[in-house]
Amino acid sequence: MFKTLKDFDFKGKAALVRCDFNVPLDEKGGILNDFRIKQSLPTIDYLLKQKAKIVLMSHLRRPKGKVVEGLRLDKVRDRLAKYLGVSVDKADDCVSEEVKDRAAKMRQGDVLLLENLRFHREEELNDDRFAKQLAELGDVYVNDAFGMCHRAHASIVGPPKYLPSCAGLLLEREVKVLSRVLDKPWRPLVVVVGGAKIDSKTDVLERFLKSADHVLVGGQVANVMMQAKGIIVGRPSLEPELAKKIEKIDLTSPKLHLPVDGVITLESRQENYSRIGGIGDVRKEESVFDIGPETIKVFAEIIKEAKMILWAGPLGMFEEKQFEKGTKEVGQSIARNHSAFKVAGGGDTHEALIKFNLADKFDHVSTGGGAMLEFVSGKKLPGLEALK
Ligand code: 3PG
Repeated sequence: MFKTLKDFDFKGKAALVRCDFNVPLDEKGGILNDFRIKQSLPTIDYLLKQKAKIVLMSHLRRPKGKVVEGLRLDKVRDRLAKYLGVSVDKADDCVSEEVKDRAAKMRQGDVLLLENLRFHREEELNDDRFAKQLAELGDVYVNDAFGMCHRAHASIVGPPKYLPSCAGLLLEREVKVLSRVLDKPWRPLVVVVGGAKIDSKTDVLERFLKSADHVLVGGQVANVMMQAKGIIVGRPSLEPELAKKIEKIDLTSPKLHLPVDGVITLESRQENYSRIGGIGDVRKEESVFDIGPETIKVFAEIIKEAKMILWAGPLGMFEEKQFEKGTKEVGQSIARNHSAFKVAGGGDTHEALIKFNLADKFDHVSTGGGAMLEFVSGKKLPGLEALK
């Protein structure tokens, strides 16, 4: 399918490694959860042992082509250095004469982390010149950013055009485990989708309504869907493209389970006010911040019977105590089903697993959220296609 690290002799070669260091941050920009950093270590360790020169690159959040001081990768560098036990250099940019110079002067065992790729618009625009500039920094391209493989961005699909390329150990493992869900799903297969990034989830929902047995939807994804369809009133206008995509999802499918009730609060959050109510009763000035008790019950009944469960995205704003119940209790229901093969994925979902002590109850915790869903739904991921 694709080459792996074992197919190359890295001694003295510069490995250009795309990682997904897009970690959750707290209000002060500190790293809240370094799961993705930890998961990238086996590949970097392997390359260190092989005496490669290692150039690491990643994005962090969505600075949209501008330098945002709080989104520099210095804290990621510090965390990497701590875990690797070697010093990790960091460049202030990812493409410049200076970076090129520094990369050229690297010696075996040196590690250099490039600055946030998304400080350049060219990354998301999949600009070929930008990709070529990145490729000039390495001899072999290693993609270890499973969580990014659903995006055709320059650092993901570009370098394989110019360099011999392979998958890193994390990418290889993710594909192996998730292929099990894709190729031989145990049934009933239950997919739980929440979180905020609806743009990457509409196609996936459509696909899962065909391939899965039950699709349970909560979080912001459910809210936007229900608002677009007029079930919840007062939706601010949707981008026409997104509205069109939501339009295509068959809300009448018996496989689809949307919230019937929610923990509702004022959209403005001006007062510390919340109430539990039916989805049809949400007023214009209100918003749903968690799924309600009836929905939790319905979801738990379905989860109890599942043989395979895939979960991506929290079902409410679990960071706040008053809105944590949906995510916590649905997570606990999944954990209680001992006979099912259980997979969870995505940065926020991992954060919730840690908060509610559920991480070790899952057979696999993927570093990908959107990427995991797209892969298991059978979509071809641009990042994986580019490696073939
Ligand atoms: C993720 O967090 O799912 C990946 O890092 C991709 O980030 P993005 O949704 O901002 O492209």
